[in-house]
Amino acid sequence: MIEEQALDPARHDRKGFSCGVTELDEYLQRFAIQQSKKGVSVVRVLIDTNLPAEILGYYSLSAAQIDVNALTEADQKQLPRYPVPCFRIGRLACSISHQGRGIGKLLIGCAVTRCLEARKQVAAYALIVDAKDVRAKAFYKHYGFKTCLDSPMTLYLALGVDK
Ligand SMILES: CC(C)(COP(=O)(O)OP(=O)(O)OC[C@H]1O[C@@H](n2cnc3c(N)ncnc32)[C@H](O)[C@@H]1OP(=O)(O)O)[C@@H](O)C(=O)NCCC(=O)NCCS
Repeated sequence: MIEEQALDPARHDRKGFSCGVTELDEYLQRFAIQQSKKGVSVVRVLIDTNLPAEILGYYSLSAAQIDVNALTEADQKQLPRYPVPCFRIGRLACSISHQGRGIGKLLIGCAVTRCLEARKQVAAYALIVDAKDVRAKAFYKHYGFKTCLDSPMTLYLALGVDK
């Protein structure tokens, strides 16, 4: 069974993780724990409960804000003219040996679910991400993320209106 867990150096094999992008591997191996402890980001991993040390994929989340002028004209309507609160996916990656099997989809789903849960306590309008290249941008667009008007590699997903 695939399970989402908080990154834990005692349980998860960070060194064994490789997604094909050195910067994203290094982040997990060298910086993720430090940044979690300092309150800079929260890092969550997906594991298979049959092999619980192996990291299948991970994502990091932080608080952020976005300039309202970066949103599409339709989304700007009825929003204040000052920066609006958001969450940010700082890093997201799937192990190279598991790519193409739905782990990326699960990572996005877990990140969105976490944001929807968190915004019951602290308001946030959207989830934003800086795509590192056009391939990553296409991946996020596949899930409905929209391109920011002021920055072609920054995308956002409005989290919806509470009923
Ligand atoms: C991008 C990445 C996370 C995708 O993970 P994955 O596990 O291979 O993707 P999945 O198998 O979950 O694919 C889920 C869906 O996304 C689609 N998809 C995957 N990569 C895509 C891309 N680059 N462009 C458009 N769609 C893409 C799949 O076709 C699939 O669609 P479906 O659900 O409609 O069938 C993974 O390739 C990766 O870690 N790459 C290296 C790191 C990286 O680029 N991270 C992005 C951070 S900016």
